[in-house]
Amino acid sequence: MAIYPPSRRAALRNLSALLAASPLLHPQQDPFRDHTRVPRLDELRNAFDFEPVAHARLSRLAYNYTAYGAESEFTLRRNRDAFDWVQLLPRSPKPSAVDTTIELFGQKLAFPLLLAPSAAHSQLHPEGELATFRGATQAAKTPMIVSNNATYGLDKINAAAKGNLWWQLYPRQSVDDTRAYLDTAQTNGAQAIVVTIDQQSAYYERPFHDHNLTDSRPPRPSNVPNPYRVLQNRNWYIWSYFDQIRPLVKVPLLAKGILTAESALTCIERGLDGIIISNHGGRALDYSPSTLEVLPEIVAAVKGRIPILIDGGFRRGSDILKALALGASAVCLGRVPRWGLAAYGAAGVKGILTLLQQELMFAMAEAGCPTIASINPSIVRIRSPQPTVAPPVLRPPSLTPVRELVNILEFEAMAQSKLPPAVFAAIAGSNRTDLERLTFRSRLMVDTTKLDLTTNLFGESMFAPIVVGPAALQKRFHPEGELAMARGSAAAKAIQIISSQSSYPLDKILAASPGPFWLQSALQELDPPTSGAQALVITLPVNQAIDWPALTRFRRRVAVPIVLKGLLRPADAETAIARGVSGLILSTYGSPLSSIALLPAIVATVQRRIPVLVDGSFRRGTDILKALILGASAVVVTRPPLWGLAAYGAEGVQAVIEMLQSELARNMIMIGAVTPRQLQPDMLRPPLKAAASKSR
Ligand SMILES: Cc1cc2nc3c(=O)[nH]c(=O)nc-3n(C[C@H](O)[C@H](O)[C@H](O)COP(=O)(O)O)c2cc1C
Repeated sequence: MAIYPPSRRAALRNLSALLAASPLLHPQQDPFRDHTRVPRLDELRNAFDFEPVAHARLSRLAYNYTAYGAESEFTLRRNRDAFDWVQLLPRSPKPSAVDTTIELFGQKLAFPLLLAPSAAHSQLHPEGELATFRGATQAAKTPMIVSNNATYGLDKINAAAKGNLWWQLYPRQSVDDTRAYLDTAQTNGAQAIVVTIDQQSAYYERPFHDHNLTDSRPPRPSNVPNPYRVLQNRNWYIWSYFDQIRPLVKVPLLAKGILTAESALTCIERGLDGIIISNHGGRALDYSPSTLEVLPEIVAAVKGRIPILIDGGFRRGSDILKALALGASAVCLGRVPRWGLAAYGAAGVKGILTLLQQELMFAMAEAGCPTIASINPSIVRIRSPQPTVAPPVLRPPSLTPVRELVNILEFEAMAQSKLPPAVFAAIAGSNRTDLERLTFRSRLMVDTTKLDLTTNLFGESMFAPIVVGPAALQKRFHPEGELAMARGSAAAKAIQIISSQSSYPLDKILAASPGPFWLQSALQELDPPTSGAQALVITLPVNQAIDWPALTRFRRRVAVPIVLKGLLRPADAETAIARGVSGLILSTYGSPLSSIALLPAIVATVQRRIPVLVDGSFRRGTDILKALILGASAVVVTRPPLWGLAAYGAEGVQAVIEMLQSELARNMIMIGAVTPRQLQPDMLRPPLKAAASKSR
């Protein structure tokens, strides 16, 4: 296909079109006012232009369903961020025409592009998948992978156009059900079967935020029949499922949701014909890496044995070219065709795909690549990643009931609205930069139906590895102060550490709650009360030498385990163990250091001889999971329950802790671990460093 205009006039025309498309000159669609003029299809210049039109045409609910990602939407953002880390290097000579065809599973495709499976297209347009398939077929017969959760049957979709159809399956535990699905798909023209194996227990906050704002949706489910209040319908997945279905599939069989070299190799061992690198468009485990950043290591492991498809954040022809340069065989588009469909039906699907196809041709020409086969890593350079931007915190209205808050940061916002500024200042803020740098490396197809977060500390069993930290004078935050904190912690089955500076006397606090507790004490106490505490916690003063002789004397005076809080140096950890300390809480409270960064060194020194706990800015289940992977026995959270306390009293404390427990449980399921003990250091990826691309 010709890329370059044959005449100067055509060149000028193209230049003016380019200028017209510039965001500086092109008025932006205002997605928040439906009376703004919706542009015509031929006025849209790139895929991004379609999203506001889709937004303008859809109900908030339907728009959200397409837009959202899991939890903090970190991975959703990172899918896009990663394209900025890869630069394309313009090359000469530029070919006057490019050939974009590829062969995939013996089939010739005009472009290395497919439609990723995505559910419920009739939410977007009355003709749903029928229109999507028509539009995709009109755009150079782009194959459509029809979702297992499509609104139309495959027979109807197949009849809607003479195009290429693949079909996606969510595993069914019953072989008979699976067989029935696969037979129907293959009878109705599925040219390949894609089995989606990620997203076991995902959770989306955006629609729940909207419920807070608009009363448009019921609150999040609270009575799920699982001790951790998480849905469990996809936990049974196991690799041998592929052995069962392989004989039932006569067409190429692919697995979708691969993010590690290890899972890619397992797919090859299991006889799969291809893989799709995917994090479900940021809709599975949050803080998973972007798909583009894991592509090179998977390509290196697969060594060309099977085709590698990829999806996640592809919006530009240049994005597609980058993935091809890094070794992908083809790219799948999830939200892009959904925007096209919502905006203009079949014509929109065709329109948005055609724009991407044209952009790809242009980018190939600029990179000096006349064919897909000529695209290689020498046309890209990988630069160090840019820091990701923290998600905005939405402020719920001040009367929102406690069970409708959707994440811990909303509790902070709620506490802020309830407290005088000077009081709130004492419990405001987080330092999560180091936590944000870490992304996960999940194990797929691990049966997690018997998920068990129980953790044993000092001979006592805890429901989950989350401990409520000590905080002084809690009456500042709520009239019932420590009494409410004790009740809330006990209701959430969490151990709490009672501060030595409580606003209520200890006997009153203990009378308020039947739950287990640890007690903060001081080295100077000659006769430290234990009052039934399972452990005594000594908080070390910040930036001062540790008084080891005093610790030894204290140790002799008490019979319960002693936990040191605030110790930061591995050498001190060694001394503490030698002096009979039973546990550590790594805490950088009062210092600018981050405890998650110091944790690996302490864990390496302690070697599980005593439990190492950690505190400091743990706000999400994913944060807690990261600490457990790095070897912490449990995480101590202090500000979050105080936010719950300030906002809602005991009920708020309980809700905060239960929210963290549920988030942790969901994330454990998706990382593929049944118990905290199964967590391994290689389940975290190291923070990205600048990497030079290999030039050929
Ligand atoms: C609204 C929506 C619904 C989806 N439904 C499915 C589905 O039913 N099956 C599936 O395997 N993946 C599903 N996905 C994931 C997509 O196949 C694909 O992995 C992802 O959208 C790619 O990222 P992108 O949207 O940034 O292109 C869905 C994605 C979205 C956005």
